[in-house]
Amino acid sequence: MTKHSCVPPPRLCSVTITPLADRFGRVATDLRVSLTDRCNLRCSYCMPAEGLDWMPTDEVLTDDEVVRLLRIGVERLGIREVRFTGGEPLLRRGLPGLVAAAKALDPSPEVSLTTNGLGLARTAVALAEAGLDRVNVSLDTVRREEFLAITRRDRLHDVIAALAAARAAGLEPVKVNAVLLRGVNDAHAPELLRWCIEQGYALRFIEQMPLDAQHGWSRAAMITAEEIFASLATEFTLTPVDEDRGSAPAEEFLVDGGPARVGVIASVTRPFCGDCDRVRLTADGQVRNCLFAREESDLRTPLRSGASDEEIADRWRIAMLGKRPGHGIDDESFLQPTRPMSAIGG
Ligand code: 5AD
Ligand code: SF4
Repeated sequence: MTKHSCVPPPRLCSVTITPLADRFGRVATDLRVSLTDRCNLRCSYCMPAEGLDWMPTDEVLTDDEVVRLLRIGVERLGIREVRFTGGEPLLRRGLPGLVAAAKALDPSPEVSLTTNGLGLARTAVALAEAGLDRVNVSLDTVRREEFLAITRRDRLHDVIAALAAARAAGLEPVKVNAVLLRGVNDAHAPELLRWCIEQGYALRFIEQMPLDAQHGWSRAAMITAEEIFASLATEFTLTPVDEDRGSAPAEEFLVDGGPARVGVIASVTRPFCGDCDRVRLTADGQVRNCLFAREESDLRTPLRSGASDEEIADRWRIAMLGKRPGHGIDDESFLQPTRPMSAIGG
């Protein structure tokens, strides 16, 4: 147990951190906070073309409620990294204020954003000024027709502008997340890597996971990490980076001897659950101890009915005890979670 004391005022106390430990010895220090389930793209691996029934506004945590949970997470539970996600977190009007409030916590966490980039060209400077440390931008292709086919919106130019704005605002390293879909963009993985290297962005390919609302994922259709390596090997030499990955999900490779790198996140074929240090909070205030969890723990009800910080912290700790050792996607008995990715956050 570690102790950190807060400087009075405003609090005349010393708060003891009792961390978010599970039954398998893992400790969650990285909190992913989904700020909305809404999105302005319709990526086919995430949602149907017509979108989804969005959460009713009164169920979504207010900015003040989010900040209170962040404070409990940092001060009482040992959270050291906060990542805002969605849906699309840039659709949340209060985002710069939430970033600033998160950074003002003691000890100040690392704060990052996972975004599709739409609108980031306009807001990157304000977010950097609010204290945002880094961004991950989703981009699966640099071909306009492929972008349209995957996201069902003709917005490639916005994402390219977003990446440049993030770099100019110092939100670095700018990371790019890409999902490959068979017969859509999988043939152009080397092209995307070449483009990212030229622009100075850190590209990571993510194996497609069964998290789409329409349950269209199939193990057979998924492009595996092995296939990604084989495709990249047609144009590049990849050498595994010899350093401890820690809890980072990406396996990193030097491209043509470096310094450029590429990451592969083999969530399905090489799961990294044993090193997981993540916990998730949905936009409606439910703790999820795993992306693939089948149960959630409600923090919104206690939050709205006068529970103390320590009572909420305790509920959160208890929520971790049900965290399973692994997601089991490759098992016969695997059941996809009821909530889609857009309502959980990446
Ligand atoms: N499988 C893998 N990655 C996904 N993402 C969204 N849905 C899926 C899925 N089914 C990615 C997005 C974004 C991040 C939040 O997760 O492209 O980069
Ligand atoms: Fe939106 Fe992200 Fe889902 Fe694409 S993957 S529809 S950008 S939430």
